[in-house]
Amino acid sequence: MIGGLGAGVVCALGIARLALRTLQAAWPEYAAALPQKEFTLPMLLSRLSIAVLLTVPSASAATLVAGDRRASWMLGCLIVVVWLPSHLHYSWADYPLWYHAAYLVSIVPLAVLGGRLVPIRLSSPTPVTPRSVKRGNMSQIRIRAERQADHERVFEIEQSAFGGQIQANLVEALRESANPSLSLVADLNHKIVGHIFFSPVTLDGTRSPAAAQLSPVAVDPEFQGQGIGSALIRAGIEQSPAKGWVAIFLVGNPLFYSRFGFEMAKPRSHSCSGPHDPFLQVLDLAPGALHGVTGHVEFHPAFAEIEGE
Ligand SMILES: CC(C)(COP(=O)(O)OP(=O)(O)OC[C@H]1O[C@@H](n2cnc3c(N)ncnc32)[C@H](O)[C@@H]1OP(=O)(O)O)[C@@H](O)C(=O)NCCC(=O)NCCS
Repeated sequence: MIGGLGAGVVCALGIARLALRTLQAAWPEYAAALPQKEFTLPMLLSRLSIAVLLTVPSASAATLVAGDRRASWMLGCLIVVVWLPSHLHYSWADYPLWYHAAYLVSIVPLAVLGGRLVPIRLSSPTPVTPRSVKRGNMSQIRIRAERQADHERVFEIEQSAFGGQIQANLVEALRESANPSLSLVADLNHKIVGHIFFSPVTLDGTRSPAAAQLSPVAVDPEFQGQGIGSALIRAGIEQSPAKGWVAIFLVGNPLFYSRFGFEMAKPRSHSCSGPHDPFLQVLDLAPGALHGVTGHVEFHPAFAEIEGE
């Protein structure tokens, strides 16, 4: 950063000197106005063009050398604080206040513009913090297929979200044996912060029509309540037809899942084993996908094995 600022200042001084000499040589009116401290339109235009000429390239140089865009606006601040007052000293009282204000205010945006012209990647990616999502950075969340390199982190998320290893082990077992399956992760600036899994179910012992179960879904506790779980669920629903599934079942809180279109399964004569039966819900992926289809929903055997532990 220091090197970048140094390069920017040297570049700024060089350009300023060159620009002033060129202007004085090529534009007699400007040279004549200087000693008399007159405020004229040519004077204003020339000073503003010097501001652009000076700031944009020197901010680009600062950014290039520092490898960090913050160097450009640091340079802008430096020019305002150190260089401009001394440069304006002899003419400060001779020009209208708005002229000085416009000049000063334009420097930092010009410096930022200079930094943006340089196609650099920040040397270290922006750190991912829970606050960074709360500040409205949901657009940085990418829902993508889980990869092998994600397995360890997914285990951690399942464990911390559920406060134990049952669901984490369940995911490991489902990965091994569920086919087809859909496993998605929420990726925030290369940090996995959520995970969702879909596995096939049978209806009255058959896989026709083909349907899935959504379970488990988990979000890193530090990142909960910010729309990540909903984004995972919506993406899973969107991608399910490609797996051949015409409906999705789940067991969970209807207050949460009804917002995605899930409805209670009991009135549609679906049931499942165990104490979860009253909470079984279903979503048709196409209108009438399960029309006339009722019956007992059997989850993947991994669920029974895990519950039996
Ligand atoms: C459930 C979970 C995946 C939701 O993810 P999230 O990113 O926190 O959720 P979102 O920010 O998209 O949605 C937040 C909403 O979900 C609601 N919600 C979260 N967990 C809920 C639950 N267990 N029951 C009912 N509602 C719940 C919140 O009250 C909030 O409601 P609001 O929008 O009306 O304020 C996450 O809270 C989690 O990992 N929980 C622990 C594991 C778990 O219970 N998984 C679900 C069972 S498989």
